[in-house]
Order: sequence, then C-alpha cells, then structure tokens
Amino acid sequence: MPDTPDRHPCTLSRDATTDPARLREIAVDVAVAAAAHVRARRPELFPAADPGARTAGAVRSKSTETDPVTVADTETEDLIRRLLTRSRPGDAILGEEGGADAGSTGVRWVVDPIDGTVNFVYGIPAYAVSIAAQVGGTSVAGAVVDVAAGDVYSAARGGGATRTDAGGSVTRLRCNPVGDIAHALVATGFSYAPHRRERQGALVAELLPRVRDIRRIGAAALDLCMVASGRVDAHYEHGLQPWDWAAGALIAAEAGAWVRLPTGGGDDGEITVAAAPGVAAQLADLLATFGADAPIPA
Ligand code: IPD
Ligand code: CA
Ligand code: CA
Repeated sequence: MPDTPDRHPCTLSRDATTDPARLREIAVDVAVAAAAHVRARRPELFPAADPGARTAGAVRSKSTETDPVTVADTETEDLIRRLLTRSRPGDAILGEEGGADAGSTGVRWVVDPIDGTVNFVYGIPAYAVSIAAQVGGTSVAGAVVDVAAGDVYSAARGGGATRTDAGGSVTRLRCNPVGDIAHALVATGFSYAPHRRERQGALVAELLPRVRDIRRIGAAALDLCMVASGRVDAHYEHGLQPWDWAAGALIAAEAGAWVRLPTGGGDDGEITVAAAPGVAAQLADLLATFGADAPIPA
C-alpha cells in the first residue's frame, strides 16, 4: 500500500524522553496532523453533493455487520504510526486497526485513528483522533482531537487538562460542580455485539428515570472529554477497548473526574466510568444496584 501523504506538516524530531509534558506535546502534534488527514478525506470518500454516495470500497464491516471500518481509519492509523516511529523509534504502539507492535523503551502509544466511525460515515460531526502515551499500562499523556470542531483536548499526568479551540484559545478543563445524580447528564455508548447491547439497553432503561437525561454521542473519547469540560456530568460504557479510553480517561481524570478503568483488555466487557466528583459515588451506587459492576459478556 502506498504511504498516506502527509497533508499537514508534522515536524517532530527524534525524542527519547518519558517526561509526560513532552509526551503530551508529541501526542498533540501527531493527533492534529492525523485529524487534518481525516478532515480532508471525508468529502473525498463521501461526496457532499450526494449524501448517500460513497467511494467504492470506502467502508467495510469489522467485528459485526454494524461495526464499520473505512479506508480513512486504516490510512490515518498508518500515518500516526509513521509519525510516531519517526519521532519515537523503539516505543511500542497499540492501534485499533493495526494491532500491537512491541517496543523497547517502556513507552507504549495507544491509538484510535477515528473514534466515532459510524458518525464519520453518516456525516454526524462527532468523531475524533485519540492518541495516548502509557508507561506500565497507565496513561501519562494524551490528546483527543474533535475533527469537525477543530478542538484539541490534551492532558499530562499531574499537569492538568486543556482544550484548545480552532481559534487557538486555551481553556483549562474542570468537571461540573454537580452534586445530585438526579441532576446529572450521563453519556453512554453501546457495543457492536448484539447480546451485550441487549443488556446495555436494559441498564440504560433503569438509569433513565434516575438522572437528568442520557446522551449517546457515538464517540467514547469525546464523551470522556465532555466529562472533563462539563458538557456532560458522567460517562459509562461496558466493553470499551484501551484505544477508546486511553487518552480521554486521562483528560477526564486531570479535570478532576473520578475514573474507573477496565483491568483487562476490553473483550470481557468490563465497565469504564468517568464522573464529576460530586456525583461519582451516587452513580457507582446506582450502577452497582443494577448489577452493572459485573462485566457484560459479548
Ligand atoms: C466506538 C465509539 C462508540 C462506542 C463504541 C466504540 P469506534 O468506537 O467510541 O461511542 O460506543 O463502543 O467501539 O468503533 O467508532 O472507534
Ligand atoms: Ca473507538
Ligand atoms: Ca476507531
């Protein structure tokens, strides 16, 4: 396959640091370059003149019939791998589309080239590039770029979380000061696996009358950034994979959220939770009441 052209110049030089602040800068630079590629590819793959039209071969199914992958997902992951390897030879990389490449430095990059692929296919403006750096399996730096809005969310462990908007204004992120779960806006998502979905649907029906409302945005990385920026008060989902949460959960935690992460790889259906601190215990109690503490198998 020919190399994906760099549509956004990314001028990273070689760097071997494990300083979270520097890893954050690298995550941001690479994610911004990748987002420029995703942004440029959408009108090429899905011409605006004919909303139903798509380039032949642009989309195929992956884990189930309803789990799409587009050529933009694979191209963008290729580009991210190339940029990371150029700057950080020897680091491990785990990507949703390309799998795991071993490394020798102790740093592992965890990559979701497009989080929210269904939205990308339909033209709903909620899809993101997510890149995190982990040390010992723990995220120490991360960036999530909301491709359509041009917002760049990022964090370094102990260094706080920010959003830089398309105009360059930087906002330090803090969760909402909400204190009552009945007033909390809760985001969630559903797996591509039908059996897990059935259980997820039953759980959301239990929660719906007990919270302000539910949102299903369709991009877990953005849901987590929305907890960080106060656009929702909490997010939970069973069965997220490391690339879904590795950057966003750090951004939420650095904005003050209480975070619960899966202990395994994701396939066993454990829950991920991020919640504003004032409602975290109440949400955890509610989830436990409805048996949502346990994994939901696919
Ligand atoms: C999906 C999105 C979605 C979530 C799914 C994820 P993808 O990621 O984050 O919101 O509910 O569980 O798989 O497939 O668009 O990268
Ligand atoms: Ca994802
Ligand atoms: Ca993806």
